[in-house]
Amino acid sequence: MKAVVYNKKAYPEKLIYSDVDKPVPKDNEILIKIKAVSLNAADYRSMKIGLIPRRKIFGADISGCVESAGKNITQFKPGDEVMGDLASFGFGGCAEYVTAPERAVIFKPSKISFDEAATLPMAALTALQALRDKGNIQKGHKVLIVGCAGGVGTFALQLAKYYDTEVTGVCSSKNVQQSKTLGADFVIDYTTEDFSKSDKSYNLILGINGNYPLLSYRKCLAPNSIYVMVGGSLSQISKSLLFGWLLSFGSKKMRSVSAKPNREDLEFLGTLLENGKIKPIIDRRYPLDKTSDAMNYISQGHSTGKVVINI
Ligand SMILES: NC(=O)c1ccc[n+]([C@@H]2O[C@H](COP(=O)([O-])OP(=O)(O)OC[C@H]3O[C@@H](n4cnc5c(N)ncnc54)[C@H](OP(=O)(O)O)[C@@H]3O)[C@@H](O)[C@H]2O)c1
Repeated sequence: MKAVVYNKKAYPEKLIYSDVDKPVPKDNEILIKIKAVSLNAADYRSMKIGLIPRRKIFGADISGCVESAGKNITQFKPGDEVMGDLASFGFGGCAEYVTAPERAVIFKPSKISFDEAATLPMAALTALQALRDKGNIQKGHKVLIVGCAGGVGTFALQLAKYYDTEVTGVCSSKNVQQSKTLGADFVIDYTTEDFSKSDKSYNLILGINGNYPLLSYRKCLAPNSIYVMVGGSLSQISKSLLFGWLLSFGSKKMRSVSAKPNREDLEFLGTLLENGKIKPIIDRRYPLDKTSDAMNYISQGHSTGKVVINI
């Protein structure tokens, strides 16, 4: 089969479009013919720090069709359309085929396309778990989403509106109109305005992108409110993990989220998408042999929504 394989000695690109053996499913695995895979920060960051998947093939968020099933498989049969996050199962999505245990995937809702399905698993699930589980989002809350224009941010913005909150998004000028179209009540263009200089306070803040002082976030929290660190620059992530708990006192809580793949949550998100409550923003599509270009693009940190590889 064709796959994009990591080779640390290859130069300048380390992701090489190659012929490799088609995987054979074990008794408790399915073989999936991949239709689409979306890239995440987890892909390029793992590559940057040398955390290479055992198959040497990146790509976690996949959609496709079951090609064959091991003899212990009970839920899926050949032809079923599936989607899922393979980050906990060795990645392997930038390829024509991948094997996975059945718990890694769910049925793809029939009304959504393979491209749309591939955008959901990691990005939308992170947004959901950050808002609902860590952020305790409630109807009527004032929510600030810092970094509302990327993969996680575009879903977070729409999910926050789904929960009937007042949403302020922070992004650069080029994404202001899109954020409004996705439902943001207010948009702050970070190239001209610093969100922390305003007197407005929020019940829930999601820090998704950028690198801002933790005290700026804390200053913007209303009484009985929560800041959730989702991501951002490596410096933002380490500062939040090291010092966030120190600033988490009184009625202002500072937390971080580490999203966990969860089939029920993914099914919920699939239903929201199917019912038009959320929609994925697909910035660019690439063919499999241009995966290296796609990875370079998302690693610049300014993609708008998701980047999808079609297979
Ligand atoms: N905690 C978890 O479990 C978890 C799970 C998944 C992802 N993450 C993390 O979440 C972060 C976002 O992931 P992603 O997939 O959404 O990334 P992404 O799609 O690559 O994010 C790109 C977006 O970041 C925005 N951005 C860049 N600099 C910014 C700044 N200074 N202020 C505000 N926005 C800025 C860009 O908007 P502009 O072009 O408008 O600047 C762009 O739209 C990453 O750090 C990732 O590692 C965490």
